[in-house]
Amino acid sequence: MVSIDLSDKRALVTGSTRGIGRAVAELLARASAKVVITGRDELRAQEVAREIGANLGAETVGLALDMSNADSIKQAYSKVEGLWGGVDILVNNAGITRDKLFLRMSLEDWEEVLRVNLTGTFVITSLAVKGMLKNRWGRIVNISSVVGFTGNVGQVNYASTKSGLLGFTKSLAKELATRNITVNMVAPGFIETDMTAVLSEDLRQEYLKNIPLGRFGKPEDVAGAVLFLCSEYASYITGEVLHVNGGMY
Ligand SMILES: NC(=O)c1ccc[n+]([C@@H]2O[C@H](COP(=O)([O-])OP(=O)(O)OC[C@H]3O[C@@H](n4cnc5c(N)ncnc54)[C@H](OP(=O)(O)O)[C@@H]3O)[C@@H](O)[C@H]2O)c1
Repeated sequence: MVSIDLSDKRALVTGSTRGIGRAVAELLARASAKVVITGRDELRAQEVAREIGANLGAETVGLALDMSNADSIKQAYSKVEGLWGGVDILVNNAGITRDKLFLRMSLEDWEEVLRVNLTGTFVITSLAVKGMLKNRWGRIVNISSVVGFTGNVGQVNYASTKSGLLGFTKSLAKELATRNITVNMVAPGFIETDMTAVLSEDLRQEYLKNIPLGRFGKPEDVAGAVLFLCSEYASYITGEVLHVNGGMY
């Protein structure tokens, strides 16, 4: 039987209280990794960590980690170091949208999305990478989006961050490869989560016309791709993008 065993690995997933991040955290826990669940609210993160731990018999911990705030990221990461010494797997999943047509987009709309989606990713990755370098093993998976490749009306800020993650991924992959740390990106299409629940029915139908597989994806569809990239089966893949979008791009 072929299986993925991450029982000696410690993972941190940003934005894992809901949606794609939660599905990723659950699947890593199913593969026996220890998992840090994070979100802006400590109690919520702890509750999700307890649920995943109890349901799957996995070792989990829930921490507040606000990606818009470097101090919050540093505090959370130092708790992880205190508990487990660091992480082997980092999934940069947390991301926000502040959609507006470009002519109405304020500097604040622009900066808020960059702060969470790009600067937060830089800060948490800088911290996590130190232990990976020492251990000469690491897996970093960045969650981008199909709109980083196609562009989208009303998402100049968001799409810029998601394309930005491509440069981040490819450059970091080259810098870390000699230490056996892979850096890859997963680019989801339209996935059923709170982020897409706000779309009008008309817009959903419009998007569906362009998805050959004929449905929006599930968070689990994305989680499978992330698990693969964290596994030994992907040990010779780095700087790569895995598109999970039902064929739309
Ligand atoms: N859904 C899609 O169709 C889709 C498509 C392509 C790409 N993506 C990308 O996939 C990732 C996850 O999306 P999703 O749809 O699962 O989103 P979601 O349902 O909106 O969940 C977002 C997660 O991020 C956390 N979060 C929000 N702001 C945060 C902050 N400032 N600091 C730390 N955590 C924060 C939330 O936790 P708390 O509220 O507890 O803080 C939550 O766990 C994002 O990067 C998104 O851009 C999604």
